[in-house]
Amino acid sequence: MNVLDTKFAQGFVRMCEDGWNQGWHERNGGNLSYRMKPEDVEEVRDALSTDKAWNPIGTSVPELAGEYFMVTGSGKYFRNVSLDPADTTCIIEVDEKGEQYRIRWGLVNGGQPTSELPSHLMNHEVKKNVSQGRHRVIYHAHPANVIALTFVLPLDSAVFTRELWEMVTECPVVFPAGIGVAGWMVPGGRKIAVVTSGLMKEYDVAIWAHHGMFCSGEDFDLTFGLMHTVEKAAEILVKVLSMRPDKRQTVTTDEFRSLAADFHVTLPEKFLYEK
Ligand code: 13P
Ligand code: ZN
Repeated sequence: MNVLDTKFAQGFVRMCEDGWNQGWHERNGGNLSYRMKPEDVEEVRDALSTDKAWNPIGTSVPELAGEYFMVTGSGKYFRNVSLDPADTTCIIEVDEKGEQYRIRWGLVNGGQPTSELPSHLMNHEVKKNVSQGRHRVIYHAHPANVIALTFVLPLDSAVFTRELWEMVTECPVVFPAGIGVAGWMVPGGRKIAVVTSGLMKEYDVAIWAHHGMFCSGEDFDLTFGLMHTVEKAAEILVKVLSMRPDKRQTVTTDEFRSLAADFHVTLPEKFLYEK
């Protein structure tokens, strides 16, 4: 089957288009990866070529040995993905040691997978484990309000989680485990991938100070929705902080506890600290 006729590829392309429409992907900013199901691989097997060389991933992901991923290309613009997915995205295969990848489809005019491949794959490896294989999507974007907050809030997971939970009542239900925050680091390598995947053991959201955000989820809807929810909460916080430095009233810790009980979510007490 033609890759672009499959549901997974169409979902992938739609998510890139949606992210572009949100304004989260200036130039080549951001990247997306999807860990394909065995049936996805079977569906497109005839369209996969084997003529491309193996390349080092730049880190080691042994638990992803033999897995296939659809990934955006490095330097490719999200704006262009829906116009020409075969030019801007690819399907890669991970080798049997989890140290190399090769392109099996796409990037027809040349190129390589996103420079954040180490972070994507290390996040996938962690999430495959902690979600019993359910998480399949890792999404990196550059949403302006979350980035703005990394210049004014302490770079502390508890502070980001609590402040953003307070902004939209649905937030604690959408990301009950909270948000991990990493200080500024050089992007694109193993070091930032190690830090990010460490955060992903606990959280589905990781913020990179002065850069952007990573989200993990089971499918395209949940992962896009998570990015959207966090960025919406950040937008509200930016508006609030622009009006006055404090809040006149907000959701209280006991109100969060009532919400958790009614919505059957566990909210770690470390985020319900007294201010
Ligand atoms: P790529 O174009 O290599 O995916 O990089 C974009 C980006 O956002 C780096 O963090
Ligand atoms: Zn980035």
